[in-house]
Amino acid sequence: MPACCLLGSGHAVPERVLTNADLETLVDTSDAWIVERSGIHQRHIAEPGSALSDLAAQAAHQALAAAQLTASEIDLILVATVTGDFKFPAMACLLQEKLGAHQAAAFDLSAACSGFLYGLHLADSLIRCGGHRHILLVAAEMLSSMVNWQDRNTCVLFGDGAGALVLGPARTSAGLLSSVIHSDGRQHGLLYNPAGSQHPLTAADLASGFATIHMEGREVFRHAVVSMADALQEALDKAGIAQDDLDLLIPHQANRRIIEAIGKRFGLPAERVYINVDRYGNTSAASIPIALDEAWRSGRIQAGQHIGLTTFGAGLTWAAAILRF
Ligand code: ACO
Repeated sequence: MPACCLLGSGHAVPERVLTNADLETLVDTSDAWIVERSGIHQRHIAEPGSALSDLAAQAAHQALAAAQLTASEIDLILVATVTGDFKFPAMACLLQEKLGAHQAAAFDLSAACSGFLYGLHLADSLIRCGGHRHILLVAAEMLSSMVNWQDRNTCVLFGDGAGALVLGPARTSAGLLSSVIHSDGRQHGLLYNPAGSQHPLTAADLASGFATIHMEGREVFRHAVVSMADALQEALDKAGIAQDDLDLLIPHQANRRIIEAIGKRFGLPAERVYINVDRYGNTSAASIPIALDEAWRSGRIQAGQHIGLTTFGAGLTWAAAILRF
């Protein structure tokens, strides 16, 4: 059966922009520190209480329009998120209602920042085996809802956003050439939010910032560079594509230094590595599809080009994929 190909893409971010200068008023930090250590200048943050499924729906509408399909032609909605509107039901079901995609099955998957590439890997398998024809894959996160705004180690890094792809069976040589996914649960303590069934929340937990993101930044950084590079090499080998034939690398946008380190390992000049972390911060699972949509719409991606995607996130999880446009 044919692999999956990209029929359309879209993305959406909240209107509100939080600059580094804004953060200087919240915690003991500086624009200079944030830019030097992460490359982030600003991030988009949702209004408290707003629905992430609305942002996901905006991105999905754009992707459907680009694919020239209606919502009724989608037979599966996959949403990658760890910050859905509710604990349950899945945000994919809320999105289904908002789109009117009543023919589709809908469910969420949880792989933190790797969620989008896990979703792509899964969607490709489902399309190859003929189980589904048109899959809407959305990666959306509102990490602002679980950030401790008094913790300077984490609150400067994250932003909110959503990216969407419509996928279908490839009719030409364009499509997903390879994908790889990996996990190592032994390292889950490096990056996690402990709120869950093991620890039902108390009022004191909420006040103390317990139910927020906890991260060992330096260790996460070290793992990120090694894992993203290894996964990308594995995906290149699987696709039979040489490093030199990679026209554009779109890595997970967590930190400019991580992105540049990976570009350097693959000998890629700056113009072949996509960076938008300066404008959005780390939007977790949404970061690659937001960047992919920007690059595609702006003409940075051309037909026939090979695009590499690589990511890393809590779990630990990591993944990579090679696309031909
Ligand atoms: N402003 C000013 N100083 C700060 C800030 C801040 N916002 N945050 C930390 N510092 C201080 C620390 O307290 C420390 O001070 P000390 O030396 O007196 O103890 C000093 O800066 C250096 O801290 P480090 O953590 O060593 O700084 P580092 O150079 O490692 O940069 C950073 C920190 C940006 C978090 C980096 O480690 C990183 O990006 N790690 C990866 C994080 C990441 O990508 N997480 C998500 C990946 S998965 C996913 O996307 C969900």
